[in-house]
Amino acid sequence: MIRPATAADLPRVAAIQAASPEAAQWPVADYLEYSFYIAELAGEAAGFAVWRAAGEGEWELLNLAVDPAHRRRGVARRLIAALPSGRVFIEVRASNTAAQALYTASGFTVIGRRRGYYHSPPEDGIVMRVEK
Ligand SMILES: CC(C)(COP(=O)(O)OP(=O)(O)OC[C@H]1O[C@@H](n2cnc3c(N)ncnc32)[C@H](O)[C@@H]1OP(=O)(O)O)[C@@H](O)C(=O)NCCC(=O)NCCS
Repeated sequence: MIRPATAADLPRVAAIQAASPEAAQWPVADYLEYSFYIAELAGEAAGFAVWRAAGEGEWELLNLAVDPAHRRRGVARRLIAALPSGRVFIEVRASNTAAQALYTASGFTVIGRRRGYYHSPPEDGIVMRVEK
């Protein structure tokens, strides 16, 4: 089940984020200002996604993570399916092959590479896009 997140979800979201070092590590309370959704499995938050409008009919996926105990069960695929129609962009670390495989499996294609986009550790960013 996919549902909007509330402030009550923040401790659980913080725990999932902390267990997902490949995800962006932002203050989780900031997510309440964006489109912020939870995927539940058996009544517990198993993953979350955050996105924002990036122009007319365009969206940027800001963060996405699934509890390591609940991976490879289609949780992230369902969160991506919950994104609105339009053009969706995502930036992902070049080394994050699991996330790139997920986005490719969800119809995204690579549209660019930003050299040295990430810090600590420094790394290129792969820009991907899908038309939903
Ligand atoms: C990337 C991540 C969100 C995937 O979540 P998930 O719920 O396990 O993904 P799903 O089960 O929905 O996977 C859907 C498809 O994506 C691909 N995929 C997902 N994880 C994969 C992996 N580790 N290796 C290869 N392919 C993978 C597969 O094609 C998978 O379909 P399949 O299981 O039928 O083969 C999760 O591994 C995670 O939280 N990683 C750390 C945070 C992160 O990297 N976030 C993205 C930041 S840009």
